[in-house]
Amino acid sequence: MRLNRLFLIVATFLICFIKISSGTYETWYPENVGRTDLLCPSDCNLRESSLGTYNSTNKCCVCNAVPSWQLYGDISFLKVEYVRRDGTVHLIGERENKTKLVHHKGFVTSLPTNICEFPNLVFVSLQNNKISTIGNISCLISLDTLDLSYNSIHFISNKTFTGLRNLRILNINNNYLATLEPFALVGTTLQIFRADLSSNNLTEIDISNLISEKYICKYDFSKNNITKMVNDANFSLNGNKTVYKCGFIDLNNNNFESFIDFVELGIDDITLLGRVLECGFSMQAMKWDCDCQMEPFLELASKVISRIWRDYFNLTCWNPPEYRNMSVPGFATKDDFLNDNLHLLICNMSEGEEGKCPRYCHCYVQPKLHRTVVNCTSIGLTKLPLYMPDKENLTILMANNSIEIFESRNYLNRTRVIDISDNLIRIFTEDAVSMLITDTVLTMNNNSFKKIPREFQKFDPCSKVRMGQVILDCDCKDIWIGDWAENRNVKQCNNLTEILCSTRNGQVSWIHLTWNDICGFENYDLFRILSILFSIALLVAVITSSVFYTFRFELSLIFRKVRSRDQRRVKPWLQYDVLVSFNEENETVRKWVIETLEPQLQLAGYKSCLPLRDTIPGTLKEDEMIYNINRSKNYIVILCDDYLGDQWKEKEWKYVWHSFHKNLDRNIVLVNFDQVETSDIVNSRLKAFLRLTLDIDFANRNNTFLEDIQDKLGPPMRYGRVLRNAKTKYVTKTEHVELNI
Ligand SMILES: *[C@@H]1O[C@H](CO)[C@@H](O)[C@H](O)[C@H]1NC(C)=O
Ligand SMILES: *[C@@H]1O[C@H](CO)[C@@H](O)[C@H](O)[C@H]1NC(C)=O
Ligand SMILES: *[C@@H]1O[C@H](CO)[C@@H](O)[C@H](O)[C@H]1NC(C)=O
Ligand SMILES: *[C@@H]1O[C@H](CO)[C@@H](O)[C@H](O)[C@H]1NC(C)=O
Ligand SMILES: *[C@@H]1O[C@H](CO)[C@@H](O)[C@H](O)[C@H]1NC(C)=O
Ligand SMILES: *[C@@H]1O[C@H](CO)[C@@H](O)[C@H](O)[C@H]1NC(C)=O
Ligand SMILES: *[C@@H]1O[C@H](CO)[C@@H](O)[C@H](O)[C@H]1NC(C)=O
Ligand SMILES: *[C@@H]1O[C@H](CO)[C@@H](O)[C@H](O)[C@H]1NC(C)=O
Ligand SMILES: *[C@@H]1O[C@H](CO)[C@@H](O)[C@H](O)[C@H]1NC(C)=O
Ligand SMILES: *[C@@H]1O[C@H](CO)[C@@H](O)[C@H](O)[C@H]1NC(C)=O
Ligand SMILES: *[C@@H]1O[C@H](CO)[C@@H](O)[C@H](O)[C@H]1NC(C)=O
Ligand SMILES: *[C@@H]1O[C@H](CO)[C@@H](O)[C@H](O)[C@H]1NC(C)=O
Repeated sequence: MRLNRLFLIVATFLICFIKISSGTYETWYPENVGRTDLLCPSDCNLRESSLGTYNSTNKCCVCNAVPSWQLYGDISFLKVEYVRRDGTVHLIGERENKTKLVHHKGFVTSLPTNICEFPNLVFVSLQNNKISTIGNISCLISLDTLDLSYNSIHFISNKTFTGLRNLRILNINNNYLATLEPFALVGTTLQIFRADLSSNNLTEIDISNLISEKYICKYDFSKNNITKMVNDANFSLNGNKTVYKCGFIDLNNNNFESFIDFVELGIDDITLLGRVLECGFSMQAMKWDCDCQMEPFLELASKVISRIWRDYFNLTCWNPPEYRNMSVPGFATKDDFLNDNLHLLICNMSEGEEGKCPRYCHCYVQPKLHRTVVNCTSIGLTKLPLYMPDKENLTILMANNSIEIFESRNYLNRTRVIDISDNLIRIFTEDAVSMLITDTVLTMNNNSFKKIPREFQKFDPCSKVRMGQVILDCDCKDIWIGDWAENRNVKQCNNLTEILCSTRNGQVSWIHLTWNDICGFENYDLFRILSILFSIALLVAVITSSVFYTFRFELSLIFRKVRSRDQRRVKPWLQYDVLVSFNEENETVRKWVIETLEPQLQLAGYKSCLPLRDTIPGTLKEDEMIYNINRSKNYIVILCDDYLGDQWKEKEWKYVWHSFHKNLDRNIVLVNFDQVETSDIVNSRLKAFLRLTLDIDFANRNNTFLEDIQDKLGPPMRYGRVLRNAKTKYVTKTEHVELNI
């Protein structure tokens, strides 16, 4: 009995010892999942594994917990029975207790038709069958493990696993999976701890299937053909959540081309990534593009990146070729002087329409230095390019071209650095310089300008402007250069920029420039004042003389009126009181003159000469005309539409005018027979008469018409006193000479 008891105690002790040495398990209640059948090793949070160090029980258990039926084996197996030749099967077996289905290397083409009748099914393993679709399995509420590897599944929707609250392990590796919808693996009611979708045909992966709020153990997407991460369901990282617990995500052996664009993935703030994400990604053997897209990520997240990114230190570049096999983290690693190489991560921009990079230039975005570089060095430009990339903070390098004018361009206010040294710049336009922002660094050594606009004053010549030594042609307007030098204390940076002004006293440095050097009176003002006065005088002279010329006949008529008052001396050589000049061809005028005017004049005591009547036939017509004109005291001109109709009348009028013009005592009475307008007259002498209204309007004639004429003619001469003497002839001859000119 004693021995018996002793044996029992020893046995109990032994059992206990064995149990302890094989590890103890504790019930583990995963968050958010109402499961009570999971057992987690007691020492779980102390373990280390290939997936990292667990410092949290949950993190460890998610990988190491097992269901009790697995540990204790209290589970029965189901059998499949083929019901048709096409691979349709159904299940046979017990339904009350937890059951397990294992059928490898068969011909099953779809899940058993009666599978929903086995709600206690916890384990399904149908490796190496011919299943192409999973179908609706949301009835399998107890399902813990689903292994469909080595089948022909090509599609998983985000409804495929809904309702499977207990699904813990999913194996769909080595299928033809091409589509995995957003939120297919990660969802509010799902918590799959391990998913193996390796060796499939996925070409893209949605970020919603990678980042989980709950702990997961490992999702394996390796050996697919994934080229990019997408965000089709507008996933966005919620910064309010303390952490996305996540787990290990294996993306090795895919074909990612460009670096992950986190902004496109809904992660605007990359620092958030490190703060809220505990996921670990592995992306080995990938051909990374080391370009500007990678830069912000490396710069901001390099502290946390190594934790998230398991093989971070193994990342190498593939493109551009010159960076091939360089280590990606190497770009972010600081050297002894705390410099990193992130400035090497750039994106080139295309020429023309799309990238707006000017032809033959090399343009690239360089995020590390917050700039876009446009390198047009030595490409033979003759003027500033018309457009530049639509970016802020341009750095425009145009050294060693043939640009002559620095003119306004709409990109100048987006520019921070301009290098136009070794060009042929002659002119800086005011517009262009005023458009530049004050912070612009402007290098302009070796050009040929002799002037700079005052707008330069806004720049700090020590830190922003580099000219080298330049010699300017300074005048009084450039006195600001002296102020500029003084205010900005340029002595200290004379080795960067030194302006010399050439003046009459030789070259003067801008440091010593004084008003007297460039603004002396004799130098500038006197000449200027004189030239202004001279031009005013010239202008006045030109205007006056042109007015005098235009109105010369009017002026002479006015002048004459003033002078000819009361000249009533008797001129014995005069033969007629009045010569009537009119167009004899005009029937109306002729009739009026002969039948009305002449008799009335005669009645009033005037002796009149009508060329028509008083010309002696057979004499030279022109001589006779002049003779008569000289012998008449006054002239009546009957102005009708065609008064100057032929050349003889024109001559007659000319001689009448000259005789009138030379002799102050003679008068012309102009009778406007047809009410001719000033504007209809071409002859400027007749025009002058009409302008000064010295004519008698024929239409308005009334009883005073004859009186008006008499008034202008003056009293008639006494007859009989008229002599033809030599003196008269002599005087008229002088007139003839003048008239004939
Ligand atoms: C686990 O370790 C990480 C860093 O490795 C730390 O940020 C986190 O707070 C730790 N968690 C627990 C529960 O200690
Ligand atoms: C279920 O399991 C219990 C104990 O494990 C056993 O007694 C019972 O017979 C089983 N039920 C069926 C239907 O096999
Ligand atoms: C799957 O079957 C259940 C009933 O068993 C039904 O309620 C559910 O709508 C079905 N789901 C789909 C996606 O057809
Ligand atoms: C399921 O997938 C479809 C199509 O890919 C997507 O539009 C939808 O948002 C997804 N459903 C959920 C709940 O995310
Ligand atoms: C994998 O996808 C590619 C294109 O996406 C297709 O051409 C190929 O046939 C697919 N392979 C299989 C086995 O389905
Ligand atoms: C990967 O996908 C691309 C198209 O997305 C296809 O051209 C290529 O052949 C695929 N590679 C493999 C190994 O399937
Ligand atoms: C985060 O919290 C603030 C208030 O605490 C709320 O206004 C905001 O909508 C939350 N953001 C998200 C994405 O839930
Ligand atoms: C880097 O890659 C090599 C071989 O691919 C592997 O042995 C090593 O563990 C990796 N290192 C890290 C830190 O991932
Ligand atoms: C331009 O430069 C300024 C100052 O360096 C910087 O604050 C700004 O973010 C830059 N802009 C861009 C688009 O890089
Ligand atoms: C600009 O181009 C020239 C020659 O093409 C090269 O020497 C220089 O290094 C380039 N500068 C920058 C900043 O890219
Ligand atoms: C630059 O000037 C253009 C007009 O030429 C104006 O439309 C634009 O807003 C300006 N840009 C900045 C950044 O001031
Ligand atoms: C110009 O001179 C200053 C001090 O006079 C000096 O610090 C600076 O390095 C010089 N710069 C050049 C380009 O020689």
